[in-house]
Amino acid sequence: MRIIHISDTHILGNLRTNLFGINPIQSLKKALKSINKNYKDADFIVIAGDLVDVASPEAYEIFHSAVKKSNIPVYPILGNHDNREMFQKFYPELFNEGFVQYDFVLDNRAFVFLDTLDETKESGILCDVRLAWLNSKLQEHKERDTYLFMHHHPVACGLHRFDVDADFKTSKEFWGLLSGYNNVKHITFGHIHRDMFAVKDNISMHSSKSTTFQVALKMSENSEYLTNQEKPVYMVMDIYKDTLRLHEHDYLDEKKYYECENRWKNRE
Ligand SMILES: [Fe+2]
Ligand SMILES: [Fe+2]
Repeated sequence: MRIIHISDTHILGNLRTNLFGINPIQSLKKALKSINKNYKDADFIVIAGDLVDVASPEAYEIFHSAVKKSNIPVYPILGNHDNREMFQKFYPELFNEGFVQYDFVLDNRAFVFLDTLDETKESGILCDVRLAWLNSKLQEHKERDTYLFMHHHPVACGLHRFDVDADFKTSKEFWGLLSGYNNVKHITFGHIHRDMFAVKDNISMHSSKSTTFQVALKMSENSEYLTNQEKPVYMVMDIYKDTLRLHEHDYLDEKKYYECENRWKNRE
């Protein structure tokens, strides 16, 4: 089966303003167009939080009206830039126990979507209510391969600012809970505006770059928080019986393709 991962769309409350040189809604529309053209067979698209940049009813309206045009089902989760109450008007069906947490089963695999938003803070959290809900889902799906989706990075990412001020505060409790089960196979996350791959306790995980701006890879402790010219991408995740495979798709300018076969044969 195939899942497409979009992250950090940071939609603004008007159609024209750019964010670090990229128009967020145009970029999201291009991503959705590219996915619906190139990966028609995808089972679903997940948008891994920071759906909007500054939360407003207008921004969610713009986000929702773009997303609802996709032929492939789209499942959003919340990030630190989001607002639960404003989001609820458009996606009331995704709420459980007051949070944007939900799950479903496809091909006997379980997909569990988490809400790590700690309103007013940049860092993420799973409070006792959300941890208890996750526990009930891990229990319910204990005989199935289970895939988690969350906004904040579940392990340190190596970018100082994100690991100190904007980290996932309840990672210890989260990993403690997971250690009681062996059904979780992979975790998909966003937030760091970079592609990252990691493995912990035999669980693999990855993030995607944003559809707007990227965070420069500066890993020393005194590094400034910088953006750069790296392009937006989405991730293509294919899940087979014993393999999980990830590709990055750079979609902003898909007209720039060049014939390769003859060029290869005639190369000097
Ligand atoms: Fe973000
Ligand atoms: Fe974020």
